[in-house]
Amino acid sequence: MQTRSLLLTAILFGGSAAVAATPPPLTTDTGSPVGTNQNSKTAGPRGGVLLEDFHLIEKLARFDRERIPERVVHARGTGAYGTFESYGDFSKLTRASLFSAKGKKTPMFVRFSTVIHPTGSPETLRDPRGFALKFYTDEGNWDLVGNNLPVFFIRDAIKFPDMVHSLKPSPITNKQDPNRSFDFFSHLPESTHMLTQVYSDIGIPANYRQMNGHGVHAFKFVNAKGEYKYVKFNWSSQQGVKSLTAEDAARVISEDHQHATTDLYATIGAGKFPSWELSVQVLDPKELDKFSFDPLDATKIWPEAQVPSIKLGKFTLNKMPDNFFEETEQAAFSPGVQPPGIEPSEDRLLQGRLFSYADTQRYRLGANYQSLPINRARATVSNNNEAGSMNFANTKSDVNYEPSVSRETQDAPPYLFSNAPLSGTTQQRGIEKTDPFAQAGAFYLALDAGGKDRLIKNLAADLNKVRDARVKARMVGHFFMANPDYGTRLAKAVNVKLDDAKAAVATLAAR
Ligand code: HEM
Repeated sequence: MQTRSLLLTAILFGGSAAVAATPPPLTTDTGSPVGTNQNSKTAGPRGGVLLEDFHLIEKLARFDRERIPERVVHARGTGAYGTFESYGDFSKLTRASLFSAKGKKTPMFVRFSTVIHPTGSPETLRDPRGFALKFYTDEGNWDLVGNNLPVFFIRDAIKFPDMVHSLKPSPITNKQDPNRSFDFFSHLPESTHMLTQVYSDIGIPANYRQMNGHGVHAFKFVNAKGEYKYVKFNWSSQQGVKSLTAEDAARVISEDHQHATTDLYATIGAGKFPSWELSVQVLDPKELDKFSFDPLDATKIWPEAQVPSIKLGKFTLNKMPDNFFEETEQAAFSPGVQPPGIEPSEDRLLQGRLFSYADTQRYRLGANYQSLPINRARATVSNNNEAGSMNFANTKSDVNYEPSVSRETQDAPPYLFSNAPLSGTTQQRGIEKTDPFAQAGAFYLALDAGGKDRLIKNLAADLNKVRDARVKARMVGHFFMANPDYGTRLAKAVNVKLDDAKAAVATLAAR
């Protein structure tokens, strides 16, 4: 196959005619030359096609198996390679090797995505954008699987399948339906903040280059002494942030339904490499209780004024993949992939994600998905994994177990996880400080007049499709609780009486 592409390159870019005139034969999957790829083998001029035409059978059978399951969410995406460069030595905060020295470079792969719709869906829809970073560090991979928005709809992973079901097309009609998603969200006051962000201008980024990224959850930075701090990661686009209005999006989709992918190929292809500055907000464990909200709740930001950012470095994307399926589609990102120095926090949403990604990837890509070139660590991998489907990284030693007198591998005690204090009993209860509306209200207040108008208009367009008056009233009630002006304007736009909205919220709170 490689010889073929070299020859094609020679033809396309002015190679000698003599080379082009003698292309190598097409072959079967087992390397034998194919006599003809034009006609099946038949029993005479009018007879049926013969089963013995193994080239035909192999070609059809292989084609029949081209699809693997798409990602259950974030199916539509596009990837690019890049490099992260550290601004300094941050080893007092974290032992993560990519932050150990000024100027240290770490190779990366990044995948951008939309969330709800399938692989071929338009890139203009109102939807959070996935922004997943894979750092191939010299002490193992780090996946920072973030979004373009800093918060999330829910705070406990147990709600994720229900939420996604309500947002995905109906199992009856196969159509996305705001009646279903708002029915769900009307029971979740904590979704008010994320919904406000999604229906604001940043709910439709103009492309993948001009949007910010956020890790959303609290994680832990752990230093070599085992001391830890809670941290939140944010990365800001050096291209600025640009969005599409609903009207812009309608125009763009009529011209190119995959405009964000087109944009990335065009700009990186032209050598205009986009970059983002990675920052971290750092919180001492002793400070966890000093806020009106719970800092381990993924529906909340850490306000910059209360928890300032430190700039860690910058990453630049400079190469598109050679093959979409091999690299972008088979890329597997998981919040559970963390090198020494970065650990999960107790955030309940994150804890569920730690399980879910590798689980779906074993199903989507197979047990040995971490050996695929795009996922394989650049650090030496030395485990005792055996066999499994499509294994091409099997153990090369007789000692595929540990401990052993041969001591081919051994524990590395400096790399033990950090220790955290525990208290209380097991429980199945919500968090104490829910504070569902304050940050949504602050976000609303910070919008300029045009931004507020468009938020109301975008929300009203979907809420006006909701038939159940109870659902509509509750949703308006939530936005009213966030900010009275916000709720009052929305009530008018969707024809809901404010008293009904307030009563609906009170009923919910009393449940
Ligand atoms: C993809 C689950 C919350 C960002 C996925 C996938 C699953 C999943 C199963 C498909 C992975 C694959 O097939 O490779 C969940 C669960 C969540 C959750 C259970 C909550 C409990 C979030 C949050 C964010 C996020 C809060 C953002 C901070 C992403 C991104 C991808 C993704 C960016 C696409 C990764 C890629 O490009 O391959 N999620 N998710 N998810 N999720 Fe989540």
